[in-house]
Amino acid sequence: MKHFLDIHKTDKKDLRSIIDQARVAKDARNGKPKGALDEDPPLAGHMVALIFEKPSTRTRVSFDVGVRQMGGQTMVLSGSDMQLGHGETIADTARVLSRYVDLIMMRTFEEDTLLEMAQYATVPVINGLTDRTHPCQIMADIMTFEEHRGPIKGKKVVWSGDGNNVCASFIHAAGQFGFDLTFTGPETLDPEAGFVAEARAKGSDIQIERDATKAVEGADLVVTDTWVSMHDPQSARERRHNQLRGYQVNEQLMSHAKPDALFMHCLPAHRDDEATSAVMDGENSVIFDEAENRLHAQKAIMRWCLGK
Ligand code: CP
Ligand code: NVA
Repeated sequence: MKHFLDIHKTDKKDLRSIIDQARVAKDARNGKPKGALDEDPPLAGHMVALIFEKPSTRTRVSFDVGVRQMGGQTMVLSGSDMQLGHGETIADTARVLSRYVDLIMMRTFEEDTLLEMAQYATVPVINGLTDRTHPCQIMADIMTFEEHRGPIKGKKVVWSGDGNNVCASFIHAAGQFGFDLTFTGPETLDPEAGFVAEARAKGSDIQIERDATKAVEGADLVVTDTWVSMHDPQSARERRHNQLRGYQVNEQLMSHAKPDALFMHCLPAHRDDEATSAVMDGENSVIFDEAENRLHAQKAIMRWCLGK
């Protein structure tokens, strides 16, 4: 069973072939209307369940469009509308859904929910974000970096802000794709030490630097994300803003990176909090390419899961 649960749990060669496949598939769609079917639609006759226990714009739309372009059908399910939200176990839900659908994509809170779904499903399960990681996003981000700047191997990525779920998947990717990553943010919001140690053990240089200006020196890519994630309590908002203000990605901070350093944000963004509009709309920003590449990268992930 080929689940796509996390970047560090997926074979390196498979990750590379997914990115390569995504680029080919993107080129093949050049000039086609968004709703046109792909050649020899690989998911013809397939049904895909998209389960959301948290809000989503990009993940929801890109998975839905991607399945339809590949000739499959989708059903979008919200956790609260399902019996899942009313006491039925994840294991039973997984067994039942597997009788109806060929693939399950799930966005949830606790990672254990996703893992239990994968354990009991007899069809592939894809991680569409948990409190802990967001692997589909970072596959799209690697694809985006390489489209603009060539191979990411050996490059320096700087993450500024909260060491959250998106940051975690970037650290996993550093280990698997062989790039270096510097985290800059307050100690209380550091990424998980185990993830850092694992990427270091794979040979990546992972640094923690409290001074944002020093951190971005020599950066090929600067990345940030919201200061308050969907799973964070709203009561933490003000404290987080106070802690993170010094890690805002603005033109001044970007001026210390390489002159051609790219800027990424997975979106949704809170403009002029974690990043200024000047940077988000600047010439080195690739935020909307990242959003588009969610579609192409996830199509390749689904094909990999289904052996298509
Ligand atoms: N980047 C991302 O996953 O966006 P959504 O929350 O809109 O899906
Ligand atoms: N870190 C954010 C990412 C949203 C795509 C969150 O979990 O809310």
